[in-house]
Amino acid sequence: MPLVSMNEFLPKAKANKFAVGQFNMNNLEFAQAIVEAAMEEKSPFIFGVSEGALKYMGMEFTVALAEAAAKQSGLPIALHLDHGSSFEVAMKCIRGGFSSVMFDGSHYSFEENIRLTKEVVKAARAMGVSVEGELGTIGGVEDDISVDEANASLANPDEAIRFYEETGVDCVAIAVGTAHGMYKGEPNIRYDIIEKVAKAIPVPVVLHGGSGVPDESIRKAIAAGVGKINVNTENQVACTDTIRQVLNKDANVYDPRKYLGPAKKAMVEVVRSKIRLFGSSDQA
Ligand code: 13P
Repeated sequence: MPLVSMNEFLPKAKANKFAVGQFNMNNLEFAQAIVEAAMEEKSPFIFGVSEGALKYMGMEFTVALAEAAAKQSGLPIALHLDHGSSFEVAMKCIRGGFSSVMFDGSHYSFEENIRLTKEVVKAARAMGVSVEGELGTIGGVEDDISVDEANASLANPDEAIRFYEETGVDCVAIAVGTAHGMYKGEPNIRYDIIEKVAKAIPVPVVLHGGSGVPDESIRKAIAAGVGKINVNTENQVACTDTIRQVLNKDANVYDPRKYLGPAKKAMVEVVRSKIRLFGSSDQA
């Protein structure tokens, strides 16, 4: 199966109250682990690729990995730019073979965010590519983007509804109290904001910063109207912790497959448990 836009599965997620996982892809092992877990669970999913990860892997390898996963698995898989910072980078990804893009205009004024997001939607639509927009500022660290607590700001639900109506995006990321990276305490998620926005618009709300959010909070967020959940850090931690363990145990290991193999296995476990929690098993 070729890569698909998120519209292949997000409307169904919204209607049937489950969420599709965006699992960030950082290298070959991430791609393989994510698709392996999704095949076991027969689940659709989204490969998220940040600008930093794209720089690291290069456009051709990134698209080739995602296309190989889609071809081998037969699953509906979207290849999605995560937090695209400009119209130009979104277009570069669409031209390169991405089937979905996020335009993160949250650092612009509300009106400018609407204007720029609309331009991305217009161009993406013509290519059958789906678009995610963002409103409010999500805290934490994600690659080169770092937002401290003081500068993270929750989305205003009325503005989020107007943002959707004016831009026509396929899903809306709104800042509701989660953050990128692992949490020190428990996140204080504003389910009321999710519910108000999700009730008023026909597309799902996106929850960023899915790593380390307690299972019960994830269930409540999905019930309130979240239909896409992003996870990156938990896989990074599983991968690196495993590699550290293997190398600490045996200083003579030099074959990368000896530590990347177990690291991949650890990521399969993470992705499988998230897919089950999100309720997207057997939805492919
Ligand atoms: P985590 O790294 O906290 O899982 O967040 C991922 C994310 O939201 C990507 O946009």
